[in-house]
Amino acid sequence: MNKKITTNDGYEIPILGLGTYLSMGRDCEHAVEFALSHGYDHIDTAQGYNNEKEVGQGWKASGRSREGIYITTKISTSNQGYEKSMRSLEKSLKALQTDYVDLLLIHWPNLSNIERTFETWQAMVEMQAQGMTRSIGVSNFPIDLLKDLLVRTEVVPAINQVEFHPFLYQQELLAYCREKGIQIEAYSPIARTKFFDHEQLVKIAKKYAKTPAQVMLAWLINHNLVVIPKSNHETRILENADIFFQFEAEDMKVLDNLLPQSRVVQEPRLFKD
Ligand SMILES: NC(=O)c1ccc[n+]([C@@H]2O[C@H](COP(=O)([O-])OP(=O)(O)OC[C@H]3O[C@@H](n4cnc5c(N)ncnc54)[C@H](OP(=O)(O)O)[C@@H]3O)[C@@H](O)[C@H]2O)c1
Repeated sequence: MNKKITTNDGYEIPILGLGTYLSMGRDCEHAVEFALSHGYDHIDTAQGYNNEKEVGQGWKASGRSREGIYITTKISTSNQGYEKSMRSLEKSLKALQTDYVDLLLIHWPNLSNIERTFETWQAMVEMQAQGMTRSIGVSNFPIDLLKDLLVRTEVVPAINQVEFHPFLYQQELLAYCREKGIQIEAYSPIARTKFFDHEQLVKIAKKYAKTPAQVMLAWLINHNLVVIPKSNHETRILENADIFFQFEAEDMKVLDNLLPQSRVVQEPRLFKD
């Protein structure tokens, strides 16, 4: 079921993953176990979600081999800086019951102290060399910050994880990332359900006998973007995986031009941790 995309470092990332923001305790453990037992190979967590332990337990309960699955975690802004980043990944690995993650991201650029964010990147380059993570990348990086990073490093991020869905079609960022070989990973890919009643979305969903969530996710994978929808419900976890279908060109065009275009997560430029 799960297609893979090769990143600029030669590793493969499954195009569908399970998001876990606001997924806590036993619910998180169960969602991870269920997803990994029903076709998902990829789980997205973060130090800031306070659920790395539950993600690790859910994975163990699924019986899946470590090599067969893909785990992402993210360094919190409060753990930025060279030494602190290193120590924080050691803790994450312990919580996740593994000795490496597949992808390590800078969760947010620290706009009040961007030097610390770049120090974190240097630490991540080192952690990659040590085998603590396979791929390294960023999250919530707009074009100007990617440019700042690229002049300071030889290592191009494998991934930029950003908010992306048909109601936030970030074409300029996508074109820039493609030019630099950076894969976009779409977070809040169903815009936290905000647009499920949108007339054009509903019309297309009916035409293909799919749900609005499935149409939004299929649109993203048709653009070759990695998607990480979050759900704690078994039926929705299954629904969100049944997304490997194509649209007729005219429907893709409608989905490419939906209005309004808006964010569900606060604009990166304004964010302070
Ligand atoms: N890097 C970052 O800064 C960042 C920021 C935001 C998110 N993320 C990552 O991206 C993941 C996904 O984003 P998100 O959690 O913000 O939003 P999302 O996946 O767009 O939406 C999740 C919400 O939609 C509901 N839902 C899921 N599937 C559904 C379906 N088929 N039908 C109806 N409702 C459905 C979920 O509820 P139930 O759980 O109750 O089903 C949950 O309330 C996160 O979990 C996290 O891993 C990263």
